[in-house]
Amino acid sequence: MLRLTDVHKAFGDLVVLDGVSLEFNAGQTTAIIGPSGTGKSVLLKHLVGLIHADAGTVECFGVDMASASEREIYSVRRRFGMLFQDGALFDSMSVGENIAFPLVHHEKKLSAAQRMERVEQVLEEVELPGFADRDTAALSGGQRKRVGLARAIIHRPEVVLFDEPNSGLDPMTSDAIDALILRMKERLGVTFIVISHDIVGVMNVADQVGMLHGGHLIAYGPPSELVHNPHPMLRRFLGRNLALPKGPQDPTTLPSLKLQR
Ligand SMILES: Nc1ncnc2c1ncn2[C@@H]1O[C@H](COP(=O)(O)OP(=O)(O)OP(=O)(O)O)[C@@H](O)[C@H]1O
Ligand SMILES: [Mg+2]
Repeated sequence: MLRLTDVHKAFGDLVVLDGVSLEFNAGQTTAIIGPSGTGKSVLLKHLVGLIHADAGTVECFGVDMASASEREIYSVRRRFGMLFQDGALFDSMSVGENIAFPLVHHEKKLSAAQRMERVEQVLEEVELPGFADRDTAALSGGQRKRVGLARAIIHRPEVVLFDEPNSGLDPMTSDAIDALILRMKERLGVTFIVISHDIVGVMNVADQVGMLHGGHLIAYGPPSELVHNPHPMLRRFLGRNLALPKGPQDPTTLPSLKLQR
């Protein structure tokens, strides 16, 4: 459905992606992990044509993003729901107006009443029923994430890109967001692509996890396999973030890791 093949991307002298190949499967949740500044957000932006590869191919729903017309890119984009790291809500608008925003672009024919009905539906979906008239500026961090998610799914996208769903949240709110992702995947069949530093959450929600480091995808597979992957960088990343057994904590020699929070 979505495929990156040998993608290279540099900004001036800074090589960010140095030959990345990755496929995202329909109905699955794929998580991308990796150190800060390693190109995770850049990778995601290739999928919706916000960034173009220097070399290699990016194919979305059968469309080659390099040769696609404006119109084709637009039609690809509307099949995505996007929740970018810096994709802030508009504090000057109510919660409902924020959530309805993509409909103004993607479903112009809906009446105001139909829009509000859809807003109510997605608010239920993210467990914030009756929040439409709330003041956006007064929301908590966790509520903002949920409203962002509601906005990302209101036009019923096939794929949701979720950049840092858990950042800045306490573990319980974080768990609630993860549960929401799992439920949406099961109930609505949504394909999720999630970027996260919350390794525990990632291991619980993802079908596949890819680790990006130094411009390369250094590990890829289901969480159950990844915890046994010997790559030192991955071991360090997992070891630092997962609950480790007592005793000398050398992540490279851990037989298995505990995934419960
Ligand atoms: N439009 C751009 N122009 C120039 N450099 C960019 C641009 N977008 C990203 N970069 C650079 O590319 C590198 C990767 O950025 P990216 O945002 O993908 O990192 P990340 O892996 O998402 O990090 P984080 O975990 O901190 O969000 C960074 O060094 C960043 O400064
Ligand atoms: Mg990022």
